[in-house]
Amino acid sequence: MTGPMHQSSDLLAVDGLSVDFRTFDGTLNVLDGINLSIGAGETVGIVGESGCGKSVLAKSILGLLPPRTAHYRAGAINWQGENLLKVKRGRLRQVRGAEIGMVFQDPMTFLDPLYTAGSYLLEAINHRDQIDGRTSVRHDRRKEAIDLLGRLQLADPERTFDSYPGQLSGGMRQRVLIAAAIAGNPKLLIADEPTTALDVTVQAQILHIFANLVKSAGMSVMLISHDLGVIASVCQRILVMYAGTIVESGSKRDVLSAPAHPYTKGLIEAVPRLGYPQKPIKGMSGQIPNLLDLPKGCRFAARCPHAAAQCHNEQPRLRPIGDGRQVACFFPEHADG
Ligand SMILES: Nc1ncnc2c1ncn2[C@@H]1O[C@H](COP(=O)(O)OP(=O)(O)OP(=O)(O)O)[C@@H](O)[C@H]1O
Ligand code: SF4
Ligand SMILES: [Mg+2]
Repeated sequence: MTGPMHQSSDLLAVDGLSVDFRTFDGTLNVLDGINLSIGAGETVGIVGESGCGKSVLAKSILGLLPPRTAHYRAGAINWQGENLLKVKRGRLRQVRGAEIGMVFQDPMTFLDPLYTAGSYLLEAINHRDQIDGRTSVRHDRRKEAIDLLGRLQLADPERTFDSYPGQLSGGMRQRVLIAAAIAGNPKLLIADEPTTALDVTVQAQILHIFANLVKSAGMSVMLISHDLGVIASVCQRILVMYAGTIVESGSKRDVLSAPAHPYTKGLIEAVPRLGYPQKPIKGMSGQIPNLLDLPKGCRFAARCPHAAAQCHNEQPRLRPIGDGRQVACFFPEHADG
């Protein structure tokens, strides 16, 4: 099934995806009717506060949600026309790494201290070669891996290749993970908070290298962050998430210069300036709603400075507002006031 807003040229088209978690306290509705598409070579950023469902979305695409508790209630995840929710496990393993690469926030949870950095790159290159049916000799793969570490501007790539994670700084480990994700030459790279654990200077440096690498490789990117500044430094298109829903999407320029949703506007006003701490989201006290007990109407209503009676009774759906933009708000014009 392909939604009306998706095109056949899309690499990834998520259609009406709803995911629940079954917990002892009840059912958490973590994703609700998510629609998004990513075309070849496109860089798309997903931004939203902690707990709004960004990581669950990334994991659901890659089939990494815990099978016992996660329930795909509705929707499809079309990867080049193939619904990943319906494919066999073997096919999903093939897609992961070789077709869709991934970088996650905390390198230490993914890097085993007993394996060298190089072994992760070799594993990714081997996996890709197996799928492509290529028979390059081991030496070629080592050279390819070291070249890649060099492209990530690691000062001594040979030494990094032979180092264990404990011998590398946080920034170096993150570069190794990015290199391992890129080594498989995937068409799409999903990066979930790839630089959050790093200090601001290293973060900016790595994002710059990351943006240049994916651009030169022609890779599509889905970059996830709670930090709008990070998203803006890499992505052409921005999707804003709130409590399991997408509330706004559009080109970076449009979304940043004229936010249509009050939540987006608040996020923009809270972006820290260099050397200043992040400001609280203006005009928005409170937190995202309890996913066990969601309001009947707009999920943002309790924090919205423009909420009207309709907002408490009906849930606004994402709808086009011209120029490829979409917003889920009954009164988007209020956002400019
Ligand atoms: N395995 C799980 N079982 C139950 N609930 C879960 C599970 N994983 C995530 N959740 C819940 O789903 C919601 C969304 O979590 P998610 O990790 O996607 O948020 P996020 O937007 O990535 O936040 P952050 O910015 O902190 O990484 C949260 O309420 C979280 O507690
Ligand atoms: S629908 Fe209503 S409550 Fe929700 S964001 Fe728009 S104005 Fe605010
Ligand atoms: Mg997360």
